[in-house]
Amino acid sequence: MEAYNLTVKPWCTFFLLGWFVIFAFLSPFADAETHYHEFVIEAKPVKRLCRTHNTITVNGQFPGPTLEVRNGDSLVIKVTNIARYNISLHWHGIRQLRNPWADGPTYVTQCPIQTGATYTYRFTIINQEGTLWWHAHTDWLRATVYGALIIHPQLGSPYPFSTPKQEYTILLGEWFDRNPMDVLKLAQFTGAAVNVSDAYTVNGQPGDLYRCSSQETVRFPIESGETVLLRIINSALNQELFFAIAKHKMTVVGVDAKYTKPFTTRVIMVGPGQTTNVLLTADQPPAHYYMAARAYNTAQNAAFDNTTTTAILEYKSAPCGAKKGQSSKPILPQLPAYNDTATATAFNAGLKSPYQVKVPTNIDENLFFTVGLGLTNCTRPNSPRCQGPNGTRFAASMNNVSFVLPRKNSIMQAYYQGAPGGVFTTDFPPVPPIQFDYTGNVNRGLWQPVPGTKLYKLKYGSRVQIVLQDTSIVTTEDHPIHLHGYHFFVVGSGFGNFNPTRDTANFNLIDPPERNTIGSNPGGWVVIRFVADNPGVWLMHCHLDSHFGLGLAMAFLVENGVGESQSVIPPPADLPPC
Ligand code: C2O
Repeated sequence: MEAYNLTVKPWCTFFLLGWFVIFAFLSPFADAETHYHEFVIEAKPVKRLCRTHNTITVNGQFPGPTLEVRNGDSLVIKVTNIARYNISLHWHGIRQLRNPWADGPTYVTQCPIQTGATYTYRFTIINQEGTLWWHAHTDWLRATVYGALIIHPQLGSPYPFSTPKQEYTILLGEWFDRNPMDVLKLAQFTGAAVNVSDAYTVNGQPGDLYRCSSQETVRFPIESGETVLLRIINSALNQELFFAIAKHKMTVVGVDAKYTKPFTTRVIMVGPGQTTNVLLTADQPPAHYYMAARAYNTAQNAAFDNTTTTAILEYKSAPCGAKKGQSSKPILPQLPAYNDTATATAFNAGLKSPYQVKVPTNIDENLFFTVGLGLTNCTRPNSPRCQGPNGTRFAASMNNVSFVLPRKNSIMQAYYQGAPGGVFTTDFPPVPPIQFDYTGNVNRGLWQPVPGTKLYKLKYGSRVQIVLQDTSIVTTEDHPIHLHGYHFFVVGSGFGNFNPTRDTANFNLIDPPERNTIGSNPGGWVVIRFVADNPGVWLMHCHLDSHFGLGLAMAFLVENGVGESQSVIPPPADLPPC
């Protein structure tokens, strides 16, 4: 990926302006465009950390192409799969109103696009602007199949801050020095913890602190005194990250394609699936400064990748240090300790909507979901397939249900065809089947979840509150929970067990932030609210892929409301066959 934005040639600008003037008279929406793209899923040799891997990519690019649109535009993306794995793509954070067919999670809203097959995703961006991204939603293919999805405001509608001189996208990723699909396969076989990654990356590049990497470290040029917008996306597979820039402060102006009240910070925490937009002013002596990211890790006694990825912020007027024989090595920012939950919590607490927002109050569905790991006991402990702790297999669950993806049909198709039999049931429990001290010393008898493909049914328009309660089963941990098809208000969070009488009183119902992914808090809880105004089947899951694969997921079935405008649209003719 290029660090520079493409500049539009002057004659081109005149030409475009002419059209805008003409169209502006025709209709206020005349400037909405449809963008056509072809994505070919193909293996390409990619060299990182001194070794070349046959990497699954889109159009041979790693990371994949950036999609840039305006609010109101439509996207038509023809995906052709010529890789050896079946795959589907997800447009993370796009609401896909009434259109689950374009959402993408394999076996949830569609069957995967088989090798040699094609599927065209068609959707419109409705009232969303900011930074989102897209990624593969099949097994671990998103380790390398991902890219940015940038939604600019409509023409003539400005940002709620002064327009930055320049915009840069920073995709934070995770690189495995082997085929990620094999890493998954191994863990699925043994039942043990997955192997950790070998590097983090900025726009696909590990940076100066890794072997064979410094030639290609990403550089972001900046003019002294100017302000730029950084669109930071955590596309890592399994790790929350801290990110900072040496000597510079950042002003957060948006998360997950929602604007926020500006606030200034030296470090941000971004979980997989989340995005953060920050303004950065080049107000330091002209020089080169490292931007760096490394793990925010909350699980106890678990291996994690403790390396640091870097890119370089380059003042264009920086003196050439090498000339005078002095070292021109950029300085590194101070990053919080790996387990610095206080810093992560303070960062999240700083996020607020810019104005008073309409938070649903009269709640129709008061849900309480435990989220966490578990262990499945084996009849033959320590056998090749039982290499987890004490000869068990790792598992994960919500409300003790370990989510299993169907294999014969997608949930959405089975629902639409009126044939859920054998594919899913709608008895996901609204509260844990047994109440216990969730973050205390949990009895071993409660560690083993029950597998199932259970959905929770919601009436169209119902006002929903969900308490996401982390458990201490195996370990407490921050689980970045992502809800497809929605944005939700984050009205409260805390540590220990959620206490409705004490904690409800402290909810922020005035200006809570809106997000599509939120961490559960390690050994704590978070409460979200939304109105179920988007019919269809919508997955909710931990965005650590290692946990999603273990079953840390469930799905909502939001029923149709009244009439066509509140109902799921018919499936496209080319929806992949199951
Ligand atoms: Cu970004 Cu279900 O995923």
